[in-house]
Amino acid sequence: MDRRARAAGKVILLGEHAVVYGAPALAAALDRGATARAFPAERDRLALGTRSGSEGDGSDPMRALGALRASLGVAPHAVEAELEMPAGSGLGASAALGVAIARALVLATEPDAVLGSAAVGARVLAAAAAWEGVFHGNASGVDAAAAASSGCIHFSRAAGSEPVRLERPLPLAVAVAGPPASTREMVASVARLRARRPEIVDKAVSGVTALVNNARLCLEAGDLTGLGKLMDLNQMLLSGLMVSTESIERACDAARRAGALGAKLTGAGGGGCVVALADGDPEPILATWRADGLACFAATVGGAEPA
Ligand code: PMV
Repeated sequence: MDRRARAAGKVILLGEHAVVYGAPALAAALDRGATARAFPAERDRLALGTRSGSEGDGSDPMRALGALRASLGVAPHAVEAELEMPAGSGLGASAALGVAIARALVLATEPDAVLGSAAVGARVLAAAAAWEGVFHGNASGVDAAAAASSGCIHFSRAAGSEPVRLERPLPLAVAVAGPPASTREMVASVARLRARRPEIVDKAVSGVTALVNNARLCLEAGDLTGLGKLMDLNQMLLSGLMVSTESIERACDAARRAGALGAKLTGAGGGGCVVALADGDPEPILATWRADGLACFAATVGGAEPA
């Protein structure tokens, strides 16, 4: 039996940062994600691509693996993991790794476990949250929820994750607009702004809440034009939270000029990726980004009922 487990990467269609303060967010799972396999071992080991670590080396990944394993209550393992996307770029790489590794450990230790069952799903999410806790100070949980899902989810800290039924598939284009940025630092920068100027952050959080609620209606009605406008408005509010950068703004503008219905950063910002909603074929947007020297790819979300 192939004991390799998978988890999805994600884009946040709307709601990053505000979700940390209780607003809802909409996230869409990507085909690209992370895979992992686990084998019983005397001490924990983790091989991630060409990098590796072992128990007690004090590195974040090994501390995270220890926390994840403690949450699942399983013995030490050697874990081999692969990432199919850039890390630190707003595509949920760290959460995808956490979910894939947690699933791999369940498969390795409980041969009869059904990964799709609610009970195993809840344990995997708790373990992924323990993993994420080592990398991020105050993770909302949206990344781990998206990594464990398929299609599109509505997420809030209070209500957790709920699948969203898409009336039409979403043709997306994603570009790496800037260098990786630390989610922990970007979340901390918004927290500092909130400590200094609470009204700025609190108004943005209520604005994003309204945008997300409307965007969910657009997704359910297949109104991609409306969804694109709401993504643009969300990008404005994110700029107001100082998490956008010149290269993010340039990549969003280029996408809109190439016909995108909307474009915004995804994830923590400060660098990383931009997601654009195409009006049909994403190729014109990708061609523009390629001409600007940006690495990019297309992704389609939905088309079938969420699992
Ligand atoms: O940068 P990412 O993919 O880890 O996304 C983080 C999303 C934030 O809202 C900025 C943080 C969070 O925990 O929700």
